[in-house]
Amino acid sequence: MIIGKRIDEVLSLQEDQQKIPFESLLPKGRLEEDTVLLRKENIQLVSSSQKKLYVSLTSSAIKEGLEVGLGAIITIHDTTKERELEEMRLDFVSMAAHELRTPLTSIKGYLSVFIKENASKFNAEQNTFLTRINNATNQLSSLTENLLNVSRIEKGTLTANLTPLDWAITAQQIVDQFQERAKENNLTLTFEKPQNIPQISADKVRITEVLSNLLANAVSYTPPKGQIVVQITNQGDQVVTNVKDTGRGIPKEAIPHLFTKFFRVFGALEEGSKGTGLGLYISKAIIDLHHGKIWVQSEPGEGSTFSFSIPALNNRD
Ligand SMILES: Nc1ncnc2c1ncn2[C@@H]1O[C@H](COP(=O)(O)OP(=O)(O)O)[C@@H](O)[C@H]1O
Ligand SMILES: [Mg+2]
Repeated sequence: MIIGKRIDEVLSLQEDQQKIPFESLLPKGRLEEDTVLLRKENIQLVSSSQKKLYVSLTSSAIKEGLEVGLGAIITIHDTTKERELEEMRLDFVSMAAHELRTPLTSIKGYLSVFIKENASKFNAEQNTFLTRINNATNQLSSLTENLLNVSRIEKGTLTANLTPLDWAITAQQIVDQFQERAKENNLTLTFEKPQNIPQISADKVRITEVLSNLLANAVSYTPPKGQIVVQITNQGDQVVTNVKDTGRGIPKEAIPHLFTKFFRVFGALEEGSKGTGLGLYISKAIIDLHHGKIWVQSEPGEGSTFSFSIPALNNRD
């Protein structure tokens, strides 16, 4: 027997363990144009028999002419099965990436020793082959790490261990590591020596990943003879890092999608499918963990400037 009871006598709606108050489902005072009062995804519904389900919910006010306080129509959609499938998918991706990582680590390790010991004994062609094997191995390994990171982001287990960091020094080291790749692509890469940059509170490994992703993109998407400049500036209470390139730029329509998963401006098959469209998505998630912001300014044909800001570490902290 349900008729005649209030909805919250029969079931309880919860979001992050907090009860959603019954009143928030109902119209209050004057209605605006929109009659949707509340829309929630992935909340928990606990029935009076303690059965738990995941649901999405929409509450819409009933409106008749000028009458607005008539009540609401609440639609609840059970998403428990979808959620279970989603969890299985995430577990699978994470397991597969972990399993790939172990043999890859050993291939990488032995390969680098092998190359070091034999480079001088091999002829040019053999060395070219080895370089290709090495590049492909690195590509596979960064793809695996990206997949692991994506599954961490989606499971909510990507974390950042924030400690004081001299970002100007770390950034310089990262830029140095990219010099060779820039040269191979016939690009000049400069680091503008910053002045008086305060420390930031950051996870060194993760923030390195962000700058590396931006530099890897700048190198990949800038035609030969181009220039890449890295700047770090202190703006108010933020430390801002810019990666400027003279590359092909990004069309306006693509900009809102850039930081979403698997997005690539020219799709998956672009340039022999070198990328995966995960780098910027992961970078944004990392910057979010640092309470910062990431954005881009770009003009097609003229170049792009990717920037991120991280709050400066206050000396009084
Ligand atoms: N510096 C850049 N210049 C031009 N396009 C870029 C630049 N950086 C990123 N992009 C575009 O954004 C897309 C997403 O970048 P990213 O998430 O790093 O994925 P990936 O590099 O694997 O494709 C790229 O495929 C590219 O089309
Ligand atoms: Mg990339």
